[in-house]
Amino acid sequence: MAKPTILAIDTSCDETAAAVGRGQIILSNVIASQAQLHQQYGGVFPTAAKQAHREKIQPIIKAAIRQAGLGWPSIKAIAVTQGPGLAPSLEIGLQTALNLGQQHSKPVIPVNHIEGHILSVLAQAKPKQGYRRAIKPKLPALSVIVSGGHTEFVLVKKIGQYHRLGTTVDDAAGECLDKVGRLLNLGYPAGPIVESLAKKGNKKRFAFPLPMTNIKTFDLSFSGLKTHSKRLIKNLIVEEKLTKKTTADFCASLQEGVFNHILYKLTKLLDEVPVKELWLGGGVAANLTLRAKLRSLARTKKLTFRIPYSHKLTGDNAAMIALTAGYILERQPKTSAKSLDRRPRWAIGGN
Ligand code: KG4
Ligand code: ZN
Repeated sequence: MAKPTILAIDTSCDETAAAVGRGQIILSNVIASQAQLHQQYGGVFPTAAKQAHREKIQPIIKAAIRQAGLGWPSIKAIAVTQGPGLAPSLEIGLQTALNLGQQHSKPVIPVNHIEGHILSVLAQAKPKQGYRRAIKPKLPALSVIVSGGHTEFVLVKKIGQYHRLGTTVDDAAGECLDKVGRLLNLGYPAGPIVESLAKKGNKKRFAFPLPMTNIKTFDLSFSGLKTHSKRLIKNLIVEEKLTKKTTADFCASLQEGVFNHILYKLTKLLDEVPVKELWLGGGVAANLTLRAKLRSLARTKKLTFRIPYSHKLTGDNAAMIALTAGYILERQPKTSAKSLDRRPRWAIGGN
């Protein structure tokens, strides 16, 4: 049976996103980034984010439907991110989805943003012609979500059935890269800039401590790496040594520190928890060094390694929300929300 066509909206943080999907196939994926707007604040400013979402959401939805080559009659349901995320940002997406649902008589499906990142590895591009065979993952899988707001290890027992095995106890990995990048005056978000500078840097120049090694859980912590960076950068500035070359070396060393921490905990986890696949999602999943480290670990452990097929699916996007809603509809075909409260702290698979 043909899968339903779903329009999805994500306004969880600072990207205004709409997309159309059908099963695993992504028909359109439109994203308006607010990065430039928040550059002046060095981070996301919630009131400005809400206003920008309000201005952009309608044209972005229109573009998503147009780029999918469809009209409203073909759309079966509207999916929307209910949380986690910034409350004022979430509110715009939820209001818009509920209004459109009423206006066009379509069911509205609330989706967890983290579940979206987890399942983003199952998305597929629309085939030029004919049919694309569905990805059928071997489960259980271990999903590693690394973004600006989250760093988690989630066991995917079944699609829709999750168990969180580890999470950061303070900052997220992306947040750590962004905050240290700010100290280095790299702009916002700093993650991608850190990656590009790191390519020319010496990762052995600065040593970073490996956090949480004396703690048995699979939880992570990045605030110590941030404090360590702060101290090193302060000294470099005082000693007038923060040259271009030193900045590149610092970026390479920082990346190594952040990613080795994830690798250390992940390796321990995989020693204890039997899984068949290793998945990587979230904004930092765009980073080639992180990908290479996880790919190599997956090879050692003989696990299938999956990452999203396009760069646009790693950061915040609505295509992953459309895909997730498709699975929700398969399990619960009658899902249809008439009112929805934002859930800024909606954890997935929590204990
Ligand atoms: O998933 P995402 O778009 O938003 C959240 O849900 O947080 O992730 C954004 C994060 C930011 O911290 C950004 O600096 C980081 O992903 N990021 C990267 C790269 N691209 C984005 N970090 C390292 N290397 C990259 N290439
Ligand atoms: Zn995200």
